Amino acid sequence: MTKLQAKNIVKRFDHNGTSVVALDGINLNVEEGDFVCLVGPSGCGKSTFLNIIAGLEKPDSGEILLNGKEISTPGPDRTMVFQEGALFPWLKVIDNVEFGLKIAGIPKGERRQISERYLDMMQLTKFSQSYIYQLSTGMKQRVAIARALALDPEILLMDEPFAALDSQTRDLLLVELQLIWERTRKTIIFVTHNIAESVVLGNRVAIFKHRPSKIKKEILIDYRRPRLAEDENLLKYQHEIIQELKSEVIEQKKTGD
Ligand SMILES: Nc1ncnc2c1ncn2[C@@H]1O[C@H](COP(=O)(O)OP(=O)(O)OP(=O)(O)O)[C@@H](O)[C@H]1O
Ligand SMILES: [Mg+2]
Repeated sequence: MTKLQAKNIVKRFDHNGTSVVALDGINLNVEEGDFVCLVGPSGCGKSTFLNIIAGLEKPDSGEILLNGKEISTPGPDRTMVFQEGALFPWLKVIDNVEFGLKIAGIPKGERRQISERYLDMMQLTKFSQSYIYQLSTGMKQRVAIARALALDPEILLMDEPFAALDSQTRDLLLVELQLIWERTRKTIIFVTHNIAESVVLGNRVAIFKHRPSKIKKEILIDYRRPRLAEDENLLKYQHEIIQELKSEVIEQKKTGD
């Protein structure tokens, strides 16, 4: 079943009186339980597109359909994990994970059950009573993922969530996220500029063209899981994406933006 449909999304931004076309007709279909990665040159509009899906920004034209119905505002059916965890430093780990559930009016006992399940999944049980400042960057990111999953969204939106991590922590989380995805069958849309990461995670990788942005190509990554970043069989997919992106970077250099 098609979970999410982006239809001809156009978005312009004003830059000192000049209109910059960030997105120039983005079309994307995401099936239920799919894991789609979005890659493309810096500034091509990946975050803007994700924000539009989240309902945090409005497109100038086009529409986003969730389960066939148009959406234009944020909702509990979509949760976002940002590059930097965006956690509440004054709350304990467990209270961060439960925050959205509390807002949603879920009773304390049930909240605790849910948060403990996801903290266990992210191997954070020992740290549930710690404060955010006592955690490493990787642990903070795992709290952010636990918090997003605890809300049981239909779609998990992730904007470069692993970009600030060291490569060992990232490799671990790449495997963990695949296992979580297999267990929960969430629909995931994941933005990254890291091509290796995109082929490890995605069932599909959608490649954005340089501004004005469109989706240039979608590549199917039909390979067994869990995938490891160092698996050489993934290299052919990486090469295919790099070839597509090369011309975009050259174009970006030519136009100077
Ligand atoms: N709030 C804003 N106001 C004005 N221009 C914006 C705004 N947000 C984004 N833009 C412009 O839209 C374009 C796309 O930005 P966006 O952040 O979506 O790119 P991106 O693909 O996520 O880049 P990166 O890989 O560097 O994160 C850029 O030209 C940027 O300057
Ligand atoms: Mg971005």
